[in-house]
Amino acid sequence: MKSKLLVATLFGVGLSFGCVSEQHDVTLTANLKETGPLLHKDIYGQFAEHLGRGIYEGIYVGPDSDIPNTKGFRNDVLNALRAIKVPLVRWPGGCFADEYHWRDGIGDPDKRPVKVNTHWGGVEETNAVGTHEIFDFIELLGADAYINGNLGSGSVREMAEWVEYMTSDKNSTLANERRKNGREEPWDIAYFGIGNESWGCGGHMSPEYYVDLYNQYATFIKTPPGKKPKLVGSGGHTEDTEWTDVLSANIERNMSGISYHFYTLPNSDWQNKGHATEFNNDDWFATMERTYRMDDYLKANIAKLDKNDPEGKIGLYVDEWGTWYDPEPGREPGFLYQQNTLRDAVVTAVNFNLFNKYAERVHMTNIAQMVNVLQAMVLTDGADMLVTPTYHVFGMYKVFQDATAIPFTIDSDVYQHGEKQLPAVTASLAKGTDGHVYLALVNLDPENEASIALNFSNANFSKLTGELLTHDAMTAKNTFEHKEVVKPVSFSASLSDLTLPAKSVLVGRLQ
Ligand code: AHR
Repeated sequence: MKSKLLVATLFGVGLSFGCVSEQHDVTLTANLKETGPLLHKDIYGQFAEHLGRGIYEGIYVGPDSDIPNTKGFRNDVLNALRAIKVPLVRWPGGCFADEYHWRDGIGDPDKRPVKVNTHWGGVEETNAVGTHEIFDFIELLGADAYINGNLGSGSVREMAEWVEYMTSDKNSTLANERRKNGREEPWDIAYFGIGNESWGCGGHMSPEYYVDLYNQYATFIKTPPGKKPKLVGSGGHTEDTEWTDVLSANIERNMSGISYHFYTLPNSDWQNKGHATEFNNDDWFATMERTYRMDDYLKANIAKLDKNDPEGKIGLYVDEWGTWYDPEPGREPGFLYQQNTLRDAVVTAVNFNLFNKYAERVHMTNIAQMVNVLQAMVLTDGADMLVTPTYHVFGMYKVFQDATAIPFTIDSDVYQHGEKQLPAVTASLAKGTDGHVYLALVNLDPENEASIALNFSNANFSKLTGELLTHDAMTAKNTFEHKEVVKPVSFSASLSDLTLPAKSVLVGRLQ
């Protein structure tokens, strides 16, 4: 007895249900001569906020630290992040962005004002990492910059002058101040956000009021020819589509995309989100179910964009996503530090497959957050560090950066839990920039493996070779004592005998 879920990815969705098995049967059908949208590298972006130990200790220890560093940025973390090819870093927030005043973070570090980080733990913010330092970090990583401006408590003039300071190539007083502070060449800004969560911590505005402010602020963001960042409107979250609707219908000034935030809270309850590492089958299903809502939420927001922007000029930027659990006992709750298990790895792959599915509109996303905060890639403890299961999924999916999607349909048994069900397996298929065809598969079911049949036309492949991430225990994690409990292993299988283990992520090259 089997339950079937037929999901047509990239170009529509159809459903058909029947009944359940111990091994899921999954068939993926594609014509490999067809091409879909670009999977923009920025879909794999990351977010680094002044929050907890995300910046200080996590990436920055200062040039005088005993921890080996380059320009104050710890070498171990830099090397780990370089290995997964981080394409884009969003900074300085988040909620922090709408309280950030850029002048606090330039000039002699010893003379910079000390502020209180009122959003995150009420700790002292020394401003040791400011504009020059973060661009050092981004350049050391080989990534692009997504700078988030302060709309909530700043001014049009402050934002305009910050952009001039960063990008002007003239002899203006501001550009010369940048030179005096050590940076001759202007920086490139890939994206610039006009506020963050303006419906909440960014000012508790209505979307209509925000539209007017956006138009005003965006008018004064001026850069040298060819240097204009993609401007990002601050949009909605979770099931809301009003912000996407109102912004895309009314913003007249240049806006490349609208941000959208959605977090995976296992219990869908901010007072009782769920434990990061202690959970059972029910919690696992609840986490996957909540994650998979991203499918409907993206679809609903994209429908608003299709209505208001039929030419497809405006992107939907999921610039905050990831798991958010209850604070770890014994730690400052405002620091949002959490451990990370195999479950987080599966959540990551489920999200990536959804972002790739909607890549026509989803051109950029940022996981929250890079180091030591929420669903992090890296955790540090003083001079020590480890990489998380989530980190490994970013590494495995780097072959999809700037790849060209190949449309496919997936006919998958369901992952049944009580009365509820989800697709057992989701996928991504694309031609990489190296010309090879890559397939990613994730099995959401923690108990049943899946047998995968590939029904490809215009293809002559016999093998799938790559990496597999899984573990016997759903709660498996990497700790400072045991850092390699969850890590990918080499994988190679004939296409006539392709089995995907329960609770696993597989990314491979077709050969
Ligand atoms: O990522 C943590 C916080 O979540 C961000 O600062 C804010 O934008 C969101 O509410």
